[in-house]
This record gives sequence, C-alpha cells and structure tokens, in this order.
Amino acid sequence: MLMAKTAGHSTGQLDVFFRHMVGNMRNGVLAIDRQGGVVLLNDEARRLFHVKPGAVEGRSFGDVLHEHPDIVRVLGGAFELKSLPNRAELRLKSTDTVIGYTLSLVRDDHGEPVGAALFFKDLTHVEQIEERERLRDRLAAVGEMAAVMAHEIKNPLAGIEVLAGLLRRKVPDNAEAQGLVKDIINEAKMANAIVQEVLAFVRPVRLQVDRTSLSEAVGSAVSLADGKATRGSILVDVIVPRDLPSLGADQHQLTQVFANLLINAYEALEGRGRIEVSARLAKTASDGALLPDGHQPVPTVVVDVSDDGPGMPADIAEKIFNPFFTTKAQGSGLGLAIVRKIVDAHDGRIDMTTQDGRGTRFRVTLPVEPHKQPAIRPTGQHGS
Ligand SMILES: Nc1ncnc2c1ncn2[C@@H]1O[C@H](COP(=O)(O)OP(=O)(O)OP(=O)(O)O)[C@@H](O)[C@H]1O
Ligand SMILES: [Mg+2]
Repeated sequence: MLMAKTAGHSTGQLDVFFRHMVGNMRNGVLAIDRQGGVVLLNDEARRLFHVKPGAVEGRSFGDVLHEHPDIVRVLGGAFELKSLPNRAELRLKSTDTVIGYTLSLVRDDHGEPVGAALFFKDLTHVEQIEERERLRDRLAAVGEMAAVMAHEIKNPLAGIEVLAGLLRRKVPDNAEAQGLVKDIINEAKMANAIVQEVLAFVRPVRLQVDRTSLSEAVGSAVSLADGKATRGSILVDVIVPRDLPSLGADQHQLTQVFANLLINAYEALEGRGRIEVSARLAKTASDGALLPDGHQPVPTVVVDVSDDGPGMPADIAEKIFNPFFTTKAQGSGLGLAIVRKIVDAHDGRIDMTTQDGRGTRFRVTLPVEPHKQPAIRPTGQHGS
C-alpha cells in the first residue's frame, strides 16, 4: 500500500489503525463486497440498525439487515445505478429514525468496483431542532396575529364600557336594567383584562435595568396581588435578608413576576393557607448560583415562592408554562408564560416543584448582574 510505505508503518499496523478509525467513527459505516457479503459494520451502524452483537462479516447484507428493507433496497442498487445517492435522506420505518446517507463504490487499484460503502448519520436530532424552529416560527406568527387582534379589540371594548355607563345613567330607576348593564360592564372589563394580558405576552420584553431592591419588588408584588385577587385569611411571610445585594433588574417587571406567582398561590389556596417568599444569595454552583455559558458561577439571588396549597398532578405540572394553558374557568393561561419571559430577559431561570396535595414551590433564580447588557428582546412572541 502506498500510504504504508510513506508513513513508515507496516500494512498490518495500518489495517488495525483503519479498523479502529472506522470502528470509532461517529457516522455509521457499512461496507459490502461485490457478492453482497458484509465486510464491515461499525458500532454506530450497529446501534442505528439495532444489529445484535456478534460477527456479521461474510453474511449477506440482506440477511443482516432483514429488518430494514429500505436499506437493503438502497444497497441492492449499488452496482447497477449510474449515479449513486449522495447526501440523501431516508426514514427507517422499522425504528422511525431519519438518516442522512451517501453510497459510494469501493474501487481497486484498477478502478474496478470491488464493493460498496454506505456512510450515514442519525438525523433524528437535527429533525427535532428543525421541528422546534418551525414551531417557533408558527408561534411568532400566531403571536403577531394575537397582537393585532388584541389592538383591534381594545377600542370597541372601551366603547362598550363607556356606552354601557351612559345607558346605566339613563335608567336610574330600573333595578333590573341596572343589574344587566353592570354585568355588561364587568364582562367588558374582564375581556379587556384578557386583551391586556395577551398584549403583555406578545410584546417583546424591554427591560429598564436599574439597581433594584428585591424586598421592595416583593413588597409591591404583595400589594398588587392583594388588589387583583382574593387573599382571604392567607398568611404571606416574606423572608428577605437585609444584606441581600441589590439586583441589576427591572423593578416593575420583577414586581409583575412575583405578583403573578402570588396571585396563582392565592387562587390555589382559595382563601386559606400560608405562602412563604424567601430569598438568599448564592455564590457557588452548589449553592445554586447560575453558571452563564456553563463557566464560572456568578453571584445569584434565589427566590422561592412556596405555598401549602393543593399542588398539581404531573400531567398538569408539565404544561403550566405553556401559553394559554389554564385549569381555571376565568384564566387566560398567560400568567406563567409572561413570568418566564421576564425571568428569561433577566438571564434568570424559573423552576417549579410540586407535590400533589402538599403544595407548590416556584424558584426564581436571578443573576445579581444580568450578563448580557440590557436589552431589547425582539423575539418576544416565542414565549420561552
Ligand atoms: N401555586 C400553584 N398551585 C397550584 N397550581 C398552580 C399554581 N400556580 C399555577 N398553577 C397552575 O398553573 C396553571 C397556569 O398558571 P398561569 O398563571 O399561567 O395561568 P392562570 O393562572 O390559569 O391564568 P392567568 O394567570 O392568565 O389568569 C394554572 O391554571 C394552575 O392550574
Ligand atoms: Mg395565573
């Protein structure tokens, strides 16, 4: 062999080297001889084709790959076809795996075909990424449409409210009409609140980053939640250490985050129970500090909002951050989607743990300084 001489290795050493090289390739390789006997099937190929351990060399490819008629067909054409498939794609029906493949002839020193080799790669993961991108584009389009609709609906809704107010004044003595008009106004107000929420969700998050006191943000969130939902006799304990550093954050938006979490907890507790909002500083990864880009831990504030309410079963828990997912008759299902969007814009993270029947804990993890500088996120519609 020419290379054996130039590299100063014996042919035997090179054979072993090539065998290891092909065996460890991250692409699948399958080679057959002119008679259709398998010469080589590397580990990745075995994995993809689900070929059991054991020697396959010398056996016919039709036999080894009998579970994959699609591949048998491709290989069957190797010595007949004028132009062989290059970077083609195929879905293995047997395993529902998509592979990208190239088929080449193996020629001897005289150019005579002595075999064929199939190189291939598992594209399932690539496909999933593409699918996610398509979904994101679709969501962006839906988001844009929702924004336009919300804008269009806002004005007639305001009109309904004003006109109903006028009507109410026209019938001061008719109790029944008064009641009906009041209902109209309330319904219009509720529709308006939903429109506002949709707009908040589809609008890109623009942060006004400033030195922000977490305890102030939480304090305002409690007032906001008290104004928007029924607290009843629920106890809210706020435990924020006095020496917690201020955050580089948008105070108004952080207030929205905690208010949404508190409102959800109020609604889950239905007037009775306890909520604890506690914060702490984390400096090392084991404390829970964030690792931007997987590197050094950065100073991080971890805020837990825990309630001793009913919790959620697993099938609900996995969907709660999805836009429009709600279990409430009057809910829009955007609360947590907005929360996540705001936390993301701060380069933070939100996680939830729950025990069905025992309570729920939302953990918001925020860097003391967001590592990307303040920001306009143009991709607001994606909601992730
Ligand atoms: N603390 C909690 N305890 C139990 N379930 C919760 C809690 N927080 C959220 N959930 C569940 O998550 C769902 C989604 O919450 P999200 O805030 O996104 O929407 P929503 O509260 O239903 O409606 P909206 O906030 O738009 O009025 C809720 O419908 C509820 O089922
Ligand atoms: Mg909510």
